[in-house]
Amino acid sequence: MDSIAILDFGSQYSQLIARRVREAQVYCELFPFDAAEEKVLAIHPKAFILSGGPNSVYDSGAPDLPPYVLRSGTPVLGICYGMHLLARSLGGHVAASPQREYGRAEVRPSSNSSILPPAAFQAWMSHGDTVDRLPDGFRSTAASDNCPVAAMENPERKLFALQFHPEVRHTEYGTEILADFLRQARIRREWTPGSVVEECVASVRSRVGDSYAVAGVSGGVDSTVAAALVHRAIGPKLTCIFVDTGMLRAGEPDAVVDAFQKTLGAKLVAVNAAEEFLDALAGVVEPERKRKIIGEKFIRIFEREALRIAGPKGRQAQFLVQGTIYPDVVESRGPERQAADRIKTHHNVGGLPEDLGFELVEPLRFLFKDEVRKVGMELGLPETLVWRQPFPGPGLAVRCLGEITWERLERIRAADKILTDELAAADMLRGETAQAFVVLLPVRSVGVMGDGRTYQEVCAIRAVTTEDFMTADWARIPHALLARISSRIVNEVKGINRVVYDITSKPPATIEWE
Ligand code: XMP
Repeated sequence: MDSIAILDFGSQYSQLIARRVREAQVYCELFPFDAAEEKVLAIHPKAFILSGGPNSVYDSGAPDLPPYVLRSGTPVLGICYGMHLLARSLGGHVAASPQREYGRAEVRPSSNSSILPPAAFQAWMSHGDTVDRLPDGFRSTAASDNCPVAAMENPERKLFALQFHPEVRHTEYGTEILADFLRQARIRREWTPGSVVEECVASVRSRVGDSYAVAGVSGGVDSTVAAALVHRAIGPKLTCIFVDTGMLRAGEPDAVVDAFQKTLGAKLVAVNAAEEFLDALAGVVEPERKRKIIGEKFIRIFEREALRIAGPKGRQAQFLVQGTIYPDVVESRGPERQAADRIKTHHNVGGLPEDLGFELVEPLRFLFKDEVRKVGMELGLPETLVWRQPFPGPGLAVRCLGEITWERLERIRAADKILTDELAAADMLRGETAQAFVVLLPVRSVGVMGDGRTYQEVCAIRAVTTEDFMTADWARIPHALLARISSRIVNEVKGINRVVYDITSKPPATIEWE
């Protein structure tokens, strides 16, 4: 299958480029600009895309264009900083523009462009430098008010460059421009959910071979789809382990057991470890410690169970299937994304211990959430499972701020069920809210119920809209519905006398509170 390597020079939009290319049904991977040549070339890229970045090509220490890109002779699309790199590497010149350009700008293509639409369009700009002398063999193919060379190309060598960002939704025709580049590069668009399933199944089969695997399943979309894929690949050699941590939502344990046994027909072992988790978490309030303890406990339970469910001749499972998805992988990569590294470990069942007794199988490692859902549908999983809202590995532990006790867990479960039921009744659980849940706060406030004073806990409603869970906005739930939810929670859930609504986007906040 044809693929593209995207070199990441640090733009905040690098991941978006990957998304757009995938949406155009072409497999791509994002690599840090200084990734080892062999690693990048291992995917046999049919073209390169060079992302934007915060530097100026003349800054000391600014990233350079790795020589193998041009040496490969394959088509290249340079975006913003990527355009400057291309220009400079080929003998052109880049200078600070007299007028910086941020935000929307009108781009006027000339008639000789192979990848731009014929008429003027609005594009997203974000730059301080521009190309002021074209490299030999290039022609300028568009201009904007502050940028005489808003695009350039060398059609013979299939080298293209854009000063603006086609990957950003604010750029009109961005998708078409990327599609035209793919056409020029003669890239076949074959990356479909069906092909993903086929490829994943084949690669899991060859990797696991005759061995056995266990899959940790939580009932969430990612772990379910990962398990379903591996099940298709190795059938009964897979055993799914579902650990009831005591920190799941109302009704969840039964729903998961049902879904796995009835729909997937996969072997499932359900382990009730609520007490064990609660004991380990007693007195712990620090979010990081909670995640570490939970992650470690999960693995120890998997190891214990794996021993118990040894295959014929006592052979133990050698592989552990995880539902890690692409944003986790990417966040932990880029050199300028060191800080994100830590986020990632949290996102995998709460951080894996170093002495992990398994080899990991992560069949969704290169998929975005929406792609995971498409693969789930392709595998024939029911919509109710595939479209469930995401639920974090550490579960309600990271939504029960402060100390975790059974009483508080029951409280949050009851409040969360009211929220979910009301949103479902209003048809707001899919699309209108990508994720909606209750957070129990470690504070108490004074209230009045009947004629008496109350001094009870506060809960927050967190509801967000988002496409990829990397950025999110708070959902504009109608006031009347919020009023109903709040009134039901305070009236029906013992121990909560106040409900607040979280109106923070991500960034600067995150979706979960811990
Ligand atoms: P944040 O809170 O970082 O969350 O904005 C983004 C998305 O990731 C989910 N999340 C997790 N998922 N294990 C998971 O499997 C985790 O440790 C974890 N922490 C956050 C969160 O629910 C949201 O969908």
